[in-house]
Amino acid sequence: MKTPHKRLLFILCGIMVVGFIYFSSRKLRLVWGLKPQRDAAETTVVLTKGAEVKRITERDPAETTVGLTKGAEVKRITELGTDIPVGRIVGPVYDEQGFLLKLDKKLPPEWVNKYGNLSEGVCKPGYAAAKMTAIYPKFMNPAPMFLDRNFFKTPSKLLSKVSKYLPPFGFRTQERVIDSILSATKNYGLGAALDSLSCKRCVILGNGGVLLNKSLGPRIDDYDVVVRLNEAPVSGYVKDVGTKTTIRITYPEGAMQKPEKYDKDSLFVLSAFKPLDFKWLKQMVFKEKLRGTEGFWKSVARNVLQEPNEIRILNPYFIQEAAFQFIGLPSNNGLMGKGNIPTLGTVAITMALHNCDEVAVAGFSYNMNTPNALLHYYNKTVKMSAVKESWTHNIAKEKEFLRKLVKANVITDLTNGI
Ligand SMILES: *[C@@H]1O[C@H](CO)[C@@H](O)[C@H](O)[C@H]1NC(C)=O
Ligand SMILES: *[C@@H]1O[C@H](CO)[C@@H](O)[C@H](O)[C@H]1NC(C)=O
Ligand SMILES: *[C@@H]1O[C@H](CO)[C@@H](O)[C@H](O)[C@H]1NC(C)=O
Repeated sequence: MKTPHKRLLFILCGIMVVGFIYFSSRKLRLVWGLKPQRDAAETTVVLTKGAEVKRITERDPAETTVGLTKGAEVKRITELGTDIPVGRIVGPVYDEQGFLLKLDKKLPPEWVNKYGNLSEGVCKPGYAAAKMTAIYPKFMNPAPMFLDRNFFKTPSKLLSKVSKYLPPFGFRTQERVIDSILSATKNYGLGAALDSLSCKRCVILGNGGVLLNKSLGPRIDDYDVVVRLNEAPVSGYVKDVGTKTTIRITYPEGAMQKPEKYDKDSLFVLSAFKPLDFKWLKQMVFKEKLRGTEGFWKSVARNVLQEPNEIRILNPYFIQEAAFQFIGLPSNNGLMGKGNIPTLGTVAITMALHNCDEVAVAGFSYNMNTPNALLHYYNKTVKMSAVKESWTHNIAKEKEFLRKLVKANVITDLTNGI
């Protein structure tokens, strides 16, 4: 009885060893077959178009909302004109965030006809979004500028994370406050004249000292939409920053506190970074006496002069997209964390990419090589060297993102500071 038992064991072992060798060799072959793959995030190994689609959606696990059909994704890739033969292994094409590595100012051939014939200075419809899509195929258009009651109750599938994330990346837990604000403001666009324009040129003014002495005022006023941030003043600086303000985007701590400095005919837009910011706006909209100011990190405005119909809430989608998709800040499960909050300037640019046909910026600069340059155009005492390592922002990574936009001519930098 012993011998057959042993023999059986011996045979079984043999089978297992052979099986093991067989399977490992298959595995090895597979690995060798894909050898040039260094880093899944950086390297695009094109096996088949199907595989490529999978890789692109895999690249950003945070971005599970990509609702493009596979067919659409394939189409967009081929539209880039990157004529990649199926089945060949190529080098890296996109960076970690999903931006094309080779950025240039050239227009893709299919747009040369569309835009090339327009004379200099004529607004090019859809230009910013088209150029953005060319360097960043994941770009999703459209995304409404401001929260409106429809979007807020049922956000489109692509942007639905805004209802799942807490502020600043979404509005979960703030639904009732927002509903109450929106029922009072009743208006959710830029106003009839601008909303009906078939082509809008926008300029976003960062508050950098680079704006000084460049006499850009008239050029800035020439844009259809002039976006200013926080308390950046107009009076006293008209020659360099212009006179027009279409919208001013602020958070409570950044909002203008001197009523005499309010710009007439402008929309007051809240970019909320924390739940308290929505509660603050509600008190402003209903002209209530401000209560509960303990949670603010500095003093805040106690009233907003605009009427409710001139007040808007910036779509928090832009904070989310700027942070997690464009800049590549840590997603931290969608919660605010160290270094994952984009600056207001970059949030505003993100908004413009979705809502303006052409986008220009001015006053953006964090050039640490000039520590004595003025940080803000309106304060002679604060120098560039005052920019500290910040808990909230990652200036270096933001700069990288903005450089890509300028390099590829998605946006025009009027002050050449980026
Ligand atoms: C632009 O000009 C080219 C020739 O110069 C012409 O073939 C093309 O149809 C024009 N495109 C548009 C949109 O007018
Ligand atoms: C701008 O010009 C004024 C007056 O000529 C000068 O005092 C100031 O230093 C200049 N500022 C910058 C940032 O160049
Ligand atoms: C400039 O900034 C300093 C430091 O924050 C502040 O004390 C001062 O009041 C500011 N000056 C102006 C003109 O805003």
